[in-house]
Amino acid sequence: MSNIILIGFMGCGKSTVGIRLSYKLRRIVEDTDKLIEKKAGMSIKEIFATKGESAFREMETGCLRELLLTREEKIISTGGGLPMKRENHPLLKELGTVVYLQISPECVWERLKNDTTRPLLQCDDPFAKIKDLLAMRAPLYEEAADIVVNVDGKDMEEVLRELMMRLKDAGVFVGGNDNENRKEKENGSGNTPTPPPLDF
Ligand code: S3P
Repeated sequence: MSNIILIGFMGCGKSTVGIRLSYKLRRIVEDTDKLIEKKAGMSIKEIFATKGESAFREMETGCLRELLLTREEKIISTGGGLPMKRENHPLLKELGTVVYLQISPECVWERLKNDTTRPLLQCDDPFAKIKDLLAMRAPLYEEAADIVVNVDGKDMEEVLRELMMRLKDAGVFVGGNDNENRKEKENGSGNTPTPPPLDF
């Protein structure tokens, strides 16, 4: 399948990049955390508190399996811990092109120091936790990824520009609107009218 899946540590911008990319490519965006919250009828924080982390990890795998059942090509942003389960890697690959948004611990800390929604960072020394988790997780993010884009010190526009370029290089799409490009490829014609850009 040719979904675009965003992976990376908490705070790297997966959700925002996902939404922006969905505008650019006119694809639906899904977020595994949001799908899980909707299905469970509670927030991630409540799931961790009442069912525990391992139940949440099972839900993440279940969510990938459900996404594999849909045919539409989407942008999928994922929870930061999802690629830690090796069992999820073949599912990610089957879903499409996996993009790792790489970020430093310092940058994560800058972005999340006042955050209260991530259960894993509600501890005495969240910065140390970020450093430890990131050191442990980085090899697995790299292993799961087809494309790596570093986001440190870059604003959203720069990240999107680089990501679009890398997707193009990887042959994921060939222009600003991949629905139109796909139609052109299928019809063998370049006559499909291009709708106005929805970018903001
Ligand atoms: C987690 C990241 C969170 C969420 C949960 C666990 C993690 O998602 O899935 O709190 O283990 O890194 P974001 O990466 O969107 O913050």
